[in-house]
Amino acid sequence: MSKKIVIAVDGFSSCGKSSFAKLIAQRLGYLYIDSGAMYRAVTLGFIQTGLIENGAVKRDNLLENIKKLEVGFSFNPNTKKHETTLNRIVVEEQIRTIGVASLVSVVAAISEVRERMVELQRKLGVDKGIVMDGRDIGTVVFPNAELKIFMTADPKIRAERRLKELVEKDQVVNFDEILANIEERDHLDQTRDISPLRKAEDAIILDNSYMTIDEQMIWVESLVVEKTNEATSEK
Ligand code: DC
Repeated sequence: MSKKIVIAVDGFSSCGKSSFAKLIAQRLGYLYIDSGAMYRAVTLGFIQTGLIENGAVKRDNLLENIKKLEVGFSFNPNTKKHETTLNRIVVEEQIRTIGVASLVSVVAAISEVRERMVELQRKLGVDKGIVMDGRDIGTVVFPNAELKIFMTADPKIRAERRLKELVEKDQVVNFDEILANIEERDHLDQTRDISPLRKAEDAIILDNSYMTIDEQMIWVESLVVEKTNEATSEK
């Protein structure tokens, strides 16, 4: 029987990492985890409990406050999707608002938050058979992942995709605001001190600016077969 592998998908925001990773997981019958959703849920928790003031997180009792936030996922049998939960309440929609998006980089740059999330992410991957997307999955969370993909796309194309998504959800936003948010997040993600976004040495680059999701699936298929065969033949 072929062995299950770990697939790490990292890259810039709004690159379509989640759609890509989710579809691979679905095809392989693997667990899919959106690690960005976990940082978004923590951000929402900080906002709800008044821990963010003037765009900065209050440091008093930080560890205790993080521990009070229980981030997880629950399966919705109606939509057949896993939804992000915060203290057992589904927050899938709230974590996708521009309010959370504009503060999440600040929260994701806090070492105590990252340590807690990485611990949780590793637990989710102990049995392998997982596709996780994020920024530090191939570099920090699963440095031994059998397959690492680093996704990128033109910022303007990413902003257009994001605009379409938000408009479909009836959110009032404009293109320039989204592009500015994407560029700011790219900058913060790449320059933060702890676990900055960077390509793992052994990651394979996928620029999907002009690729459909079907083309991306064809691209990844042979890699999955190759890495699974390698893992299976290893003693
Ligand atoms: O993928 P996303 O846009 O939902 O991620 C939200 C934020 O969380 C983004 O600013 C980067 C951060 N993030 C991170 O620092 N590490 C991860 N593994 C995933 C996301």
